Amino acid sequence: MDVVVLVSGRGSNLEALLAAQRDGTLPIRITAVLSDRPAAPALAIARSAGVPTHTLVPAHFDNRVEFDRALFADIASLAPQLVVLAGYMRIIDSSVLTPWVGRMINIHPSLLPQHAGMHTHRRALEAGDPEHGASVHFVTAELDSGPLIAQVAIDVLVDDDVASLAARLLPHEHDLLVASINLIASGRLRYTVDGPQLDALALLAPLRLIADRSLRFQST
Ligand code: GRF
Repeated sequence: MDVVVLVSGRGSNLEALLAAQRDGTLPIRITAVLSDRPAAPALAIARSAGVPTHTLVPAHFDNRVEFDRALFADIASLAPQLVVLAGYMRIIDSSVLTPWVGRMINIHPSLLPQHAGMHTHRRALEAGDPEHGASVHFVTAELDSGPLIAQVAIDVLVDDDVASLAARLLPHEHDLLVASINLIASGRLRYTVDGPQLDALALLAPLRLIADRSLRFQST
């Protein structure tokens, strides 16, 4: 399965995908990495893995929609089966996004629908959440609200701060993203207008990643 990855920052999720691709545990080919930020460390990670990169700078466009049109024209020319937002920090215009619904996923560092948007770790701590986590979902026009595919949860510890919580969650995010893409690449998980299906049956609740890195059903 040909995959295009969109990044804005550090690139640890991209690195996890490249590692899984390399060691044969993820049957995908990352054909390009696209970014809105020329200085994103993720671009160096892509280049050192020999993956073509392309940066489009938002300030070079008249407005947000023009930028998104140019970006998605690039993506369309690459004809990927899947687009992965891996730390891509821009909201995509719905007119541009709509044709890609069902072929684009995002990883978000919270147990959606809790804490859509930014500063998720801080908000989980402030809310006194006993658990925190990450979600992989199909991207729709509503920010961080598309159909959920899978989640991973960790306990919040009494002495956690934003940095410790984020650091403990990150490796689980990587496993979650790899496991979720594996399901899509194998053809087992599909998007339909009625919601995601796993093995042709409606997925009524997001799958849960467990300690051995496999995905499990959870009760609805
Ligand atoms: C991750 O926490 C991801 O869930 C969120 O942005 C962060 C990106 O990290 N969407 P990285 O750039 O993949 O290291």
